Amino acid sequence: MDAIVTKGLTKVYDKKIKAVDHVDMDIPSGSIFGLLGPNGAGKTTIIKVLTGLSDITEGDAWIAGFNVRKEPMRVKARVGWVAAEVILDDDLSAWENLWLQARLQRLGDWKDRAGQLLEFFELNDRRKDKVAGFSTGMRKKLEIALALLHQPEVIFMDEPTIGLDANVRRMLWDLITGVNRQFGVTVLLTTHYIEEADRLCDRVSIIDQGKFVASGTPSELKNRVHEDFVEIETSESVTAEKLSAIPGVSNVKSQGKAWVLRVPSAEETLPHIFQALRTDGIRRINVEKPSLESVFLDITGKHLDQAGADVQDFRKFYMNVRRARR
Ligand SMILES: Nc1ncnc2c1ncn2[C@@H]1O[C@H](COP(=O)(O)OP(=O)(O)OP(=O)(O)O)[C@@H](O)[C@H]1O
Ligand SMILES: [Mg+2]
Repeated sequence: MDAIVTKGLTKVYDKKIKAVDHVDMDIPSGSIFGLLGPNGAGKTTIIKVLTGLSDITEGDAWIAGFNVRKEPMRVKARVGWVAAEVILDDDLSAWENLWLQARLQRLGDWKDRAGQLLEFFELNDRRKDKVAGFSTGMRKKLEIALALLHQPEVIFMDEPTIGLDANVRRMLWDLITGVNRQFGVTVLLTTHYIEEADRLCDRVSIIDQGKFVASGTPSELKNRVHEDFVEIETSESVTAEKLSAIPGVSNVKSQGKAWVLRVPSAEETLPHIFQALRTDGIRRINVEKPSLESVFLDITGKHLDQAGADVQDFRKFYMNVRRARR
């Protein structure tokens, strides 16, 4: 059975901002699905409309067979959500945070499940400790535990590893896989980390400006691009014609101040490029081997992990922390 289905799912904010634009999804039960896209692509909005937090403008969606517009309460009972924002209460212990979550969701029988979750996330011996003293990784674990408390069939994770260092990120990848296997939960996560989508997800859709521009398993997506990309920034004297004439260059696209050349093999073509552009002052050169990054570059002409994206991540991360504390 499909855990999540959408048909022509569309969200327009304020009658003018089309954040999600006719998106079709069918995500099998028990899988891990990734929405990969740059800032502002519409990832969070998809989660908001699927969880009933925001209205659907057009189209339809079903979760575990229930219609999101017509049966919102049934849908809410079956979905968990790990927001990009921090939601824990620092002044409460791990156990008290679980208790609060159970109260908010009016859960009767929650203690066994809470115990199981603390065990699974290896937080059992810290259950009575205030969350204020938890590490980033422990906080993230507890947030996921809260989202799983009511035994949802589907869990949404909005940028689960944003702002985390590489070790904690890897630990979380293992945990997300573990949650998926152990609890049989379907996972929809958003990310703009290529490696995260590649390593973690059974299937990935690449989203740009509200539209799905490519979908498939990570290897299917990577197989779409057999060629290498050479990106160069040069002086103004260079033209597309000049670049197209270089032996081995099969396609030329301009991208702002730079050019993106498709070549069967960067190693073989680079000497020809240097030869042809001898007098044109190459300012920057970058080789991209087939990856989800080059798929994105090929389709949209843009980079996913733009320089500065990480800086932005941190800013967003700390902003969210501050907002949550207020
Ligand atoms: N409440 C809102 N009102 C108006 N516009 C909104 C609202 N929320 C999001 N948008 C707009 O919708 C678009 C998609 O935003 P969304 O937050 O879904 O992107 P995202 O892919 O999650 O980005 P990020 O990676 O930065 O989290 C953006 O243009 C954003 O400005
Ligand atoms: Mg977002």
